[in-house]
Amino acid sequence: MSVTAIVGAQWGDEGKGKIIDELAGQAEYVVRYQGGSNAGHRIVFDDSEFAFHLVPAGILHPGVRCIIGNGMVVDPRALISELESLRKMGVDTTRLYISERAHVVMPYHIVLDRLEEESRGIEKLGTTERGIGPAYVDKYSRVGIRMADLLDVDHFRSKLAPVLAHKNRMITQIYGQQPLSLEEIHTEYVGYAQQLRQYITDTQAILHKAYKERRAILLEGAQGALLDIDFGTYPFVTSSSTVASNAATGAGLPPRSIQHVLGVFKAYITRVGSGPMPTELFGEEGSRLREAGHEYGTTTGRPRRCGWFDAVVGRFVVRLNGFDSMAIMKLDVLDEMPTVKICTGYKLGDRELSAPPANLNEFASCEPVYEEWPGWETSTKGITDWDALPENARRYLKRIEEVLETPLALISTGPGRSETIHLRELNV
Ligand code: IMP
Repeated sequence: MSVTAIVGAQWGDEGKGKIIDELAGQAEYVVRYQGGSNAGHRIVFDDSEFAFHLVPAGILHPGVRCIIGNGMVVDPRALISELESLRKMGVDTTRLYISERAHVVMPYHIVLDRLEEESRGIEKLGTTERGIGPAYVDKYSRVGIRMADLLDVDHFRSKLAPVLAHKNRMITQIYGQQPLSLEEIHTEYVGYAQQLRQYITDTQAILHKAYKERRAILLEGAQGALLDIDFGTYPFVTSSSTVASNAATGAGLPPRSIQHVLGVFKAYITRVGSGPMPTELFGEEGSRLREAGHEYGTTTGRPRRCGWFDAVVGRFVVRLNGFDSMAIMKLDVLDEMPTVKICTGYKLGDRELSAPPANLNEFASCEPVYEEWPGWETSTKGITDWDALPENARRYLKRIEEVLETPLALISTGPGRSETIHLRELNV
């Protein structure tokens, strides 16, 4: 019984949802520790597909308690609609707990996210426009509204009024748009508070007790390490800390509670939004991967940029998170490739780099140095046994394991729950 953190090891969309869904069967608690409804986990179960944005993916398992941690920013409207969809599918949502310390995404955050993006012109970050950046800005400016504030109608109003006045000055004077109404927002959010009241609680206390009782707890990361606010491709990152070290803080657990960190990679790499991506494939090769992997955003529907597996950023992310093991997702998407490539170094002018540079201009100028491996050109879809994989696929995976110096625990060969090769026990 342990605390396991599951962390995206690329630019998000690695397939963490499927892993969490699989491991949640052995867990008692699943906790989201950062981000908000910018995230999207698509899970296939019982022949139906469900897209999660805020609710931890463990909710599909009867008996598992799911926690929206203090490190998250929560859009109550999006959460209520997600809960309604889950209930319609017959999922019991009474096992959800929302931290009273989680911050609330307000309508002005969403408006400002869009206006700020528009004002950046061609320099835009490509955010999901879910208000995530502006909500975290308010958290760190100490003017954020937390779940606990929503429950106290008068206190909420007294916090909201000055913040909204300031935001309205930005909206009208900087961006020349219409101001938002205090009355409307107050009434709308008091209504949301009524609907969410039953879930809002001291989740830190619940988790502390669970940890003391040695219950199995999964910490569910959103986005990926390359979108981390400190270590990602800044400023083309999300506004939270996505890495394993923040999993404890964002859930309210002590740092030493985490016993296993599982890094989730795709067998290739994708990115949505702007920013450098050295192994990006353009033209026919890129579209081939995109179509084979259905690489379109769960949250925004945007086509994802696709490229070869990048072990340079991979090694960097391994070091940063201290992965104890890793999962490689979507192996089957490479099935038809005559050859497959792994980027093992970058060339920057006449320099060879083994780690991504912090200077973004330099990063954008890095040329990938590839190893090229023969493809397997046969279907791996649904394979559950390592020995049943074509030899070239095994060789490719072994090479990734070697370059990243991290043991492989899981390989996913399809979206379904059973389409997984388990190489070692994770002891969740
Ligand atoms: P934001 O998180 O909406 O502020 O967007 C900042 C950057 O993170 C953009 O490039 C987004 O496309 C990216 N991003 C945010 N959430 C996700 C995710 O769940 N998967 C992949 N990319 C994401």
